[in-house]
Amino acid sequence: MVEILPSLLAADFTRLGEEIAHVEQAGVTMLHVDVMDGHFVPNITMGPPVVKSLRKITKTHLDVHLMITDPDRYAPVFIESGADSVSVHQEACPHLDRTLRMIQAEGALAGVVLNPATPVATLDEVLEFVDFVLIMSVNPGFGGQRFLPGSLRKIQQLAERRARFGYGFKIEIDGGVGIDNVAEIARAGAEWLVAGSSVFGAPDSGAAVRSLRDAANVGHLA
Ligand code: DX5
Ligand code: ZN
Repeated sequence: MVEILPSLLAADFTRLGEEIAHVEQAGVTMLHVDVMDGHFVPNITMGPPVVKSLRKITKTHLDVHLMITDPDRYAPVFIESGADSVSVHQEACPHLDRTLRMIQAEGALAGVVLNPATPVATLDEVLEFVDFVLIMSVNPGFGGQRFLPGSLRKIQQLAERRARFGYGFKIEIDGGVGIDNVAEIARAGAEWLVAGSSVFGAPDSGAAVRSLRDAANVGHLA
């Protein structure tokens, strides 16, 4: 089953509660929260107080994507604030094994993220125990960018390794996901599909979620 994870970065920040309620009515079970620090990426977004507030208004899984230079310091703070899953960039973690195990020990699902230029092979030593792998299909920092098609090959490589070794991690994709490419993304093997502008930029975010999910599930079964 494919999940559509609306990215709150594209939502109207003055009405986050309503925006969330709307997509939840369309059956959303996971929300994607983009945390940027102005160092790892050239943009600044939200921090732990926002996650804490979101936790009060929703039971939906909060998937926190850390685009920051010091994930070891802040991951526990986000988990304490209510994150259900936390992903860290391979490029920001010199001690990736330790960081991922720390996130799991703190009680969240642990994910590792790859920038477009970072190969899948850099994850070979953590695939056995990581909960999910997030493939960036844009260079991180901003919503509304164009999907980089090379990411489909990376999804396939991960799906192949997962099948070959019997690993249990989920494959997540983030950036430029829309109605034109969800089917091939799902067919390649991804099951958590982050969608920002194609959901909250649509006139009806609930309808957008439904169409994306239907199109993705067709690709998934193909
Ligand atoms: C980009 C973020 C994404 C972003 C996706 O750095 O990690 O989650 O919100 O937005 P869209 O779907 O508009 O590309
Ligand atoms: Zn993201």
